[in-house]
Amino acid sequence: MSTAKSAKRKPVLTMAQQADIHELYEEAVQAVDAEVEYLVDTFKTLRGREPISFREDFCGTASAACEWVRTGKNRIAIGVDIDEDTLEWGRANRVGRLPEKDRTRVKLIHGDVRTVETEPVDIIGAFNFSYYCFKTRKELGGYFRHARTALNDDGLFVLDVFGGSEAFSVQKEKTKYEDFTYIWDQAEFDPITHRMLCHIHFKFPDGSKIKNAFTYDWRIWTMPELRELLDEAGFSKVRVYWEGEDDEGEPSGEYYEAETGTPDPAWIAYVVAEK
Ligand SMILES: C[S@@+](CC[C@H](N)C(=O)[O-])C[C@H]1O[C@@H](n2cnc3c(N)ncnc32)[C@H](O)[C@@H]1O
Repeated sequence: MSTAKSAKRKPVLTMAQQADIHELYEEAVQAVDAEVEYLVDTFKTLRGREPISFREDFCGTASAACEWVRTGKNRIAIGVDIDEDTLEWGRANRVGRLPEKDRTRVKLIHGDVRTVETEPVDIIGAFNFSYYCFKTRKELGGYFRHARTALNDDGLFVLDVFGGSEAFSVQKEKTKYEDFTYIWDQAEFDPITHRMLCHIHFKFPDGSKIKNAFTYDWRIWTMPELRELLDEAGFSKVRVYWEGEDDEGEPSGEYYEAETGTPDPAWIAYVVAEK
């Protein structure tokens, strides 16, 4: 017999139902503190001055843009993303949680990075391989040319790149975090077109799951293609920063300028293109 009390009992939500995919994504995928530090250090080394303005392309929740203004009182940032819902989440949960003095120095634009018009900035960054969504040389080259016009004369365009034999394969990689497991699923790869369909899934200790929390339909670009396209887009110099190793031979998280790399099965590098 059900009592009034039991009828009112709230359904128990699974961990998946209680989770926020943007929070999970940021914890598993992003390291905006290290990213901003890298941008500032690289700009200072190459340009001999402090960078002030940063445009985060494909900004999603705009975490890097927020970190940019949070870590320098004169800094300004613009975030650009095509997805209004994600931007709205970023406005409420990232920009909105900055102290007021920092908040006014971040502007979020709902737009397409291929056509958006912004005032010239010192650095444009496109991270987590987001530009892989452009699948032809024409499309990607057009984006690179457009980004170049939005830089100050000594501005830098910074991209991350991933590669190695594992980048051209169908595989799943699981990483355990305290409250969830992050699954990077390279579900389809076509060696003729280099089209890759990949997903992010999350699994929780109570057995619940969020399948396809994020899906990306990409072309896996190679480093030589990217360097040539940046060159053709008019950038005066294109530098590659390769990841160093710690004492145990593991990736150190520190990047140094390199002319040649090592054939690691899975690597991440930065490309820095000077206007
Ligand atoms: C992989 S997420 C990147 C999130 C975050 N910036 C990061 O580094 O992890 C890709 C983002 O690119 C956005 N996006 C895709 N195509 C775009 C375009 N043409 N212009 C602007 N944003 C775009 C998506 O809405 C999505 O938020």
